[in-house]
Amino acid sequence: MDAKVNSSREEFIEDLIANNFTTFFVATHPKYSTSNPAFRFTPTPVSVAVPYSWSYADARERLMHLSSLLTAEEAERRNINFVNPALKDFMPAAALPTLRGGIQLLLPDEQAYSHRHSANAFRLVFEAPKTGAYTNVEGNRLPMSMGDLILTPNWTWHDHHNEGDSNVIWYDGLDVLFAYWMGGVFYEEMVDVTGDEYQAVLHEADSVTDNFGAGMIHRKSMYPDHIPASDNTLIYYPYSKARQLLSDLAQHGAGDPYEGILVEYVNPVNCGPTFPTMSTSLRMIKERSTVEAMHRTENVLFITMEGSVTFHLPDNQTFTTKPHDVTAIPSWVPYSISNKEQDPAVLFSQSDRPVFEALSFYREEKA
Ligand SMILES: [Fe+2]
Repeated sequence: MDAKVNSSREEFIEDLIANNFTTFFVATHPKYSTSNPAFRFTPTPVSVAVPYSWSYADARERLMHLSSLLTAEEAERRNINFVNPALKDFMPAAALPTLRGGIQLLLPDEQAYSHRHSANAFRLVFEAPKTGAYTNVEGNRLPMSMGDLILTPNWTWHDHHNEGDSNVIWYDGLDVLFAYWMGGVFYEEMVDVTGDEYQAVLHEADSVTDNFGAGMIHRKSMYPDHIPASDNTLIYYPYSKARQLLSDLAQHGAGDPYEGILVEYVNPVNCGPTFPTMSTSLRMIKERSTVEAMHRTENVLFITMEGSVTFHLPDNQTFTTKPHDVTAIPSWVPYSISNKEQDPAVLFSQSDRPVFEALSFYREEKA
C-alpha cells in the first residue's frame, strides 16, 4: 500500500473514532483489529478477566483491620471484596465480568439493617458462633452455621444478626455486575419504606426447609407469601445436608473424571439453578485424585470449603488453596483440579452458566 493511501486511511479512522463511529476492520475484525481480544471476533472466547486466587487469610486480616477503622454506622455491611486485577480499572468490585464476591463480618451483638435490591445474592457461612447468628429473609430466621447457604433472591428483604459470642463471617456472592451493565439496579432500605430498620421474625428455618422434605413439595404451605422474583422459595440449604449427600455419593462410588462428585443446589420448584443468573454447586474431589481439564463458557468462582486442592491452568500457572480461599476462572480458560492430600476436598462454586445457557452461548470441550 502506498504511503498516501495509508495516511488517508489513518486520517479516516481517526476521524471515525473522534466522531464516535467505528468499523468492523478497526473494532472486531478477526485478522486486522488491534482492539482488546476480549472484544473481537476470536475463534474461541477470550475473557476480559484473568484467572486469580485470593487467600482467605489475607482477606480476613484486612476485614478485621477494617472493623477498627469504621464507625458503628459505617460498619453496616462491613466487607472486603475480591477484585479481578484485569477488571479493577473499569469495574469496581468485580471478581469476574458477571460475578461479585466478598466476605462480610458481624461482631457479637451487631446487626446489619434490612434492605433489598434487584441483584440476586447468597451467603455462604465461613465462621460462626455455635448459636445466635442468623439472617432474616422475608421474616424467616435462617441460622448461620459453617457452610450453610442462604439465598436472598431478587427484591427480598434481608437483615443479619449476631447474638452469639463470637464473630460471624460469611461469603457474599452476587450477580450485580449484570444489573450494573444492563441498567437494572434497584435498591431500598427498609427504614425508608416502613420506618423499621429490621424485619419481625415470623417463621423459623424449618418452615422453609420442611416444605421440601423427602424431595416433595408441600404446596399447601408454600413459603413465602411474597414469592421472590427468582421463583426459588427454598432460600436455605444447610451444609450438614449437602455434605452428607456428598459423603453418601462417595460411598456409592459416584464421580465423574471432569467434575468430581458434583451436586448442584437447585430450585426445587423447577429443578433449575439457584437463581436465573447464577448456579451454586458443591463438589467433592477425592483424596489423591485429579479432575481433568475442560473448556467451559462460564465464569466461575470456586471456594475451597474443606481440604486443599491445586488448580492447574495454561502456561503452568497454578493456585494451591486452603479452606475459604476464593479462585476465579474466567470463561473458556481450561483448568484441572488435583487433590494430593490424604483426605477428600470439598469445593463450593458460584457460576453464571445459567445465563450462557439461556442465551444459547453455553459450550464445553475437552482441553
Ligand atoms: Fe444485600
